[in-house]
Amino acid sequence: PKILLLNGPNLNMLGAREPKHYGSLSLAAIEANVRALAEKCGLNLECFQSNSEEKLIDKIHDSFQKVDFIIINPAAFTHTSVALRDALLAVSIPFVEVHLSNIHKREPFRHHSYFSDAAEGVICGLGAKGYECALIFAAEFLAKNA
Ligand code: DQA
Repeated sequence: PKILLLNGPNLNMLGAREPKHYGSLSLAAIEANVRALAEKCGLNLECFQSNSEEKLIDKIHDSFQKVDFIIINPAAFTHTSVALRDALLAVSIPFVEVHLSNIHKREPFRHHSYFSDAAEGVICGLGAKGYECALIFAAEFLAKNA
């Protein structure tokens, strides 16, 4: 089974970016942790980050019938992008939405997500560990639905 880990805008700056909200790990370090866990679970993991809505949408389209599960942190697009939501619905790939910070504890404009009602689940506020929790969920979800 194949899992795609997608990260949206500004997440390439993790480590340096607002550590009080997002922690001190770089995206490369987070991806390495998730990859190690995926290998243990016998899952093939691809990681992709982009600051461009278009590139994220194209990546989702390219995953059609090739990827079994998506873990996505849409970052700021969480609160703005009907197009990214529609891309996920178009390919019908089950997904979990992840946020490092607890978006409900922050500014009101972060409280709404265009993704949550279509997601299998939502993880927020657990920091980088949230991605690992999502991977464990995905492994169990895929085993159950195999
Ligand atoms: C985020 C939360 C979003 O509100 C913000 O725009 C991000 C990161 C998070 O992981 O906590 O870029 O998705």
